[in-house]
Amino acid sequence: MTNILLVTSSPRGAESLSTRFATEIAEGFKVRLGGAHLTRDLAANPLPHIAQAYIHGRIAAPEARTPEQVEAVGLAQELVDEVKAADVIVLGSGMINFGPSSQLKAWFDHITWPGVTFDYSGAGRPQGLLTGKKVYLVTAAGGVFSEGDWAPFDFQTGYLRHLLGFIGLTDIEIVRVEGTVFGPEAAKAAIAATEAQVRSILEKAS
Ligand SMILES: Cc1cc2nc3c(=O)[nH]c(=O)nc-3n(C[C@H](O)[C@H](O)[C@H](O)COP(=O)(O)O)c2cc1C
Repeated sequence: MTNILLVTSSPRGAESLSTRFATEIAEGFKVRLGGAHLTRDLAANPLPHIAQAYIHGRIAAPEARTPEQVEAVGLAQELVDEVKAADVIVLGSGMINFGPSSQLKAWFDHITWPGVTFDYSGAGRPQGLLTGKKVYLVTAAGGVFSEGDWAPFDFQTGYLRHLLGFIGLTDIEIVRVEGTVFGPEAAKAAIAATEAQVRSILEKAS
């Protein structure tokens, strides 16, 4: 059985293309691979920003933690456990001001945890600890960032790929929906191209 974790994060609700395609991939896998499917919807249920309770709490001995620290570290542990339990992670991200949404940034701030999801034991170099998982990263953007003049300003896909790799999630397939702001025809073509990519991913999984 395959455990699938779907993480969605766009603040655009039902209009979100990253949520739409990430959901299609996760549900398609569930049907084809017969897996369990857990959804973490970071837009509907936003995480708090990390704060002192988490930063101090995660280095304090468990028995020395204040109630506030116990709560903050407990939430981060719950999020890490969801990732650890997954064989396949499908992550949806919509570009907001050239990067991921703050909802998704907050998720990474909770799960990027020294000694738990990465460490420096590998000859002084960081080593990701969440290994052996496949990630489908669905990134949506109004502009075109995969090539051309705006490529240097894609602080979404490259940043997310780096963060995922930093915690050991290096087997990443990227699905882009981009160029949707250049009128209805361009949006239609962009969506059709992503639909074809999603179809091909799901056919390979059958
Ligand atoms: C508040 C806001 C900020 C945005 N910032 C950018 C941006 O910096 N660059 C861009 O190409 N598109 C930008 N967009 C367009 C979105 O990236 C686009 O609608 C994309 O499809 C959002 O992902 P989603 O469909 O998953 O919600 C922005 C949209 C909103 C609502």
